[in-house]
Amino acid sequence: MVLLHGFPHQGEIGGRCPCPGGPCASWIMKTLVFFGATGHLFSRKIFPALASLKEELQDFSIVTVGRRFATQSEYQRFLGAFHPNPEAVFRRMVYCRGDARDQDLLAQLAPHLKGDAVFFYLATLPSVYPVILEHLHTWHRDNPEVPISIALEKPFGHDEASFLELEKNLRQVFAEENIFYVDHYLGKSTVLSLIILKAENRFMEKLLSREYLREVRIAVCEEEGVEERGAFYEETGAIKDILQNHLLQLLTLLAIDIPPLCEEDKRECQHFQEEVAQAKSRLLQEVRLPEPAEILLGQYEGYREEVRNPHSVTETLIRLPLFIENPRWHGVPFRLLTGKKMAEKRSFVEAIFHSVTPLPNRLRIEIQPEERIDLFVNVKTPGMDLSSAMVQLNFSYFGTFGAKSPEAYQKILHDFLHHDRTLFPDSSFIRHSWRIIDQLLRKIRESQLTPFSYPPHTLNAEALFTGNLNERNLE
Ligand SMILES: NC(=O)c1ccc[n+]([C@@H]2O[C@H](COP(=O)([O-])OP(=O)(O)OC[C@H]3O[C@@H](n4cnc5c(N)ncnc54)[C@H](OP(=O)(O)O)[C@@H]3O)[C@@H](O)[C@H]2O)c1
Repeated sequence: MVLLHGFPHQGEIGGRCPCPGGPCASWIMKTLVFFGATGHLFSRKIFPALASLKEELQDFSIVTVGRRFATQSEYQRFLGAFHPNPEAVFRRMVYCRGDARDQDLLAQLAPHLKGDAVFFYLATLPSVYPVILEHLHTWHRDNPEVPISIALEKPFGHDEASFLELEKNLRQVFAEENIFYVDHYLGKSTVLSLIILKAENRFMEKLLSREYLREVRIAVCEEEGVEERGAFYEETGAIKDILQNHLLQLLTLLAIDIPPLCEEDKRECQHFQEEVAQAKSRLLQEVRLPEPAEILLGQYEGYREEVRNPHSVTETLIRLPLFIENPRWHGVPFRLLTGKKMAEKRSFVEAIFHSVTPLPNRLRIEIQPEERIDLFVNVKTPGMDLSSAMVQLNFSYFGTFGAKSPEAYQKILHDFLHHDRTLFPDSSFIRHSWRIIDQLLRKIRESQLTPFSYPPHTLNAEALFTGNLNERNLE
C-alpha cells in the first residue's frame, strides 16, 4: 500500500499557465521524482544540493519515494536536519511512502507524473532498478507524449554483461540521450577545471603527451573504511568501486584531446559533448593492462572483522599502471591508485615531466581536500651564481575567487535538469570500462594475486607511488 502526503500544488501540475506573462510563481511545469529519497545519499548529498538550487527549481514539483517514514511531517523532520533552510524545497515536495516492489506504487505515483517533462532519479539500491523500470515502462506506454529522462547512481552493473542487461532495461523506456549515468566525481570543480585547463590553454594539450611526460599519477585516497557498507563492499572491492569509474574517468579526461569549448551555440555544445564522449570511449579501447607483477593489491587490517568474513581477499587498495597504446601516449605509464583507510583523504591528477633536475617538474591538479592547481618549476635562487631551486606556483579556487565552488551534486543536478551530458559517462564509456575491469579481474584471478595487509591510516599516495612500502601478504 502506498500513501501520498500533502502535495502542495495538486491540480496545477501539467496544465497550461493561466496567466502567461503574469505572476505564475506557483505554476508547476516539470516534475522531478526521486526513488530512494530516505537513504544516505539523498539525505546527505542530493537534498542539500536541491536546497541550494532552489531558484532553478521554481518550475518543478518534487516527488520523493521511500519506505521508512509513515508521514510527510516525519519525513520532513528527518530531512530538515541536513540543511539549515529546507523550507523552499519542502514547499514543492511531496513524500510518497511505498515499496518499489508493490504493484500499487505506480497507480499512486501516476497522478503526479505530469507536466511538460518528468525527470526520474534513481538514488536507491541497484537491486530495485529493474522493478522501478518496469513501473516506468508501463507508465510511459500510457503516456508517450510526456518527455522523460532518468539519472541513476552507480554501480551500473557489476561487469560488462550485467551492464548490458541494465542498459537494455533502460532503453525500453528511455532514449540513450535521456539517460544520465551519475559519476558525482565528475561534478567536482577541479575535474571541470581539468577540462578548462586543456580546452582554453591549447599549449597544455601539447605538453600533456609522451614527448614531455614521464608518467601520470592519479589517486583517489580515502580516510574512511567500509563502515556500514560492508556487504556491498565485499562484492565490489576497490577495483569496481573506484577504479572502474572515477579513476578511468580522470584518466580519459587527461588523455583525450579536449575540443575547443563552445559558447552559446547549443548545436556546437551538443557537438562538444559528443566529441568528448566519443574520444573517451575510443581511448578506453586503447588501454593496455600491465603485467601481474606490476599490480599491487592491499587490504586494511581489521577489514575482515568489519565484514565478518575471516577469509576475505577483497582489495581495499589497488595500485597499478595502465598504458595507452596510441602515438600520443605510447610508453607513458598512467599510475592509478585508490585505497580506503589511508593516512589522508586526498585525490589528485599529477603529470610528471621529463626533467633535468633530480626533482621533476610536475603539474598537479588537486581535487580534494583543497581544489587547487600546482605547477612545480625550477627558478634561480638569490645570489650571483646560476643555482636553482624547485618552487610551487599555486592557484587555489578559494584563494583566487574567494568563494567555494558548488558541491558536486549541485552541478550534477543542474546538468541533469539542463540536459547537459558533458560530465556523464555514456553507455559506450561504461561498457568499455567494464571490459577493462573484467580483463583485469581475470588477470588477477589467473595470477592468484592476493592483497597485502596494511595498518589503517599509515599509507599515503607519495609512499605508494614511490614504492616505499613494507609489504606483508595476508595469510
Ligand atoms: N551513499 C553514498 O555516498 C553514495 C555515493 C555514490 C553512489 N551511491 C549509490 O546510491 C545508491 C543509494 O545509496 P545509499 O547509500 O543512499 O543507500 P541507502 O542509504 O541504503 O538507501 C537506499 C534507499 O533505497 C530505498 N529502498 C530500498 N529498497 C527499496 C524498495 N524495495 N522500494 C522503495 N525504496 C527502496 C531505501 O528506502 P528505506 O530506507 O526507506 O527503506 C532508501 O531510501 C546506491 O546505488 C549507491 O551505490 C551512494
